[in-house]
Amino acid sequence: MEPNKDFNQFDIPLAKRTYLDNSNSILKKKLLIFSPFLLLLFSIAALRLTRNIKLEPLVNLNFQAEISDENRILGHLPYTEISKEKLVLIEPNIKVHIDMRDSLLKMREEAKRDGIYLVFLSGFRSINLQNDIFFSLKSIRNQEAAERARVSAPPGYSEHSTGFAIDIGDATQRETDFETEFENTDAFRWLTKNAAKFHFKLSFNKNNKYIDYEPWHWRYEGSIEALKVFETSNRDL
Ligand code: DAL
Ligand code: ZN
Repeated sequence: MEPNKDFNQFDIPLAKRTYLDNSNSILKKKLLIFSPFLLLLFSIAALRLTRNIKLEPLVNLNFQAEISDENRILGHLPYTEISKEKLVLIEPNIKVHIDMRDSLLKMREEAKRDGIYLVFLSGFRSINLQNDIFFSLKSIRNQEAAERARVSAPPGYSEHSTGFAIDIGDATQRETDFETEFENTDAFRWLTKNAAKFHFKLSFNKNNKYIDYEPWHWRYEGSIEALKVFETSNRDL
């Protein structure tokens, strides 16, 4: 039997089918004719938008600064106290983080070979000791907390409590211990030139807006733990 060519007419009413077919082809034709214009319009609109919109950076660059500023007390960042097991005595009254001991002693040896005599003045300080320094000793000087904080960190905010900080003097010029004049010693000049080789970095330089310049105070950044400890400080320059 011959297939009925108009078979579809029994399924779908002619009027409806014609309507559907027409709409599709008209739409296609219109799209074909107008597509270049639409494309042009769209491009112009996009161009205007990108010109007018002030693009915000994806990452807020002030984020870290905001965090660290919130955490600061009188300009100092918080540091937790190192556990006792990680402390080693390097000389009477001077303990440091075990990770920095070898590097510190090697640095002193190399300086000695160059005729420079480094003397270690202060290493690890417990939060209790820092508390005494900040609230007792400094108050004897009749200084307000903000003034004291320019030279001493509040308890819980000193790099010395991490075991990664060391105050260094020149054995031939002890009168410059803990003084800005230390910067004029051979020891300081040597440190400026060589300390980085041993992973030491000056913590409080002349640009620090919160804490006075301390040419004698160096911190160790030669291990992942140390880098983590000082991450915020390094980002927040
Ligand atoms: N002198 C430095 C700021 C301290 O006390 O940790
Ligand atoms: Zn110090």
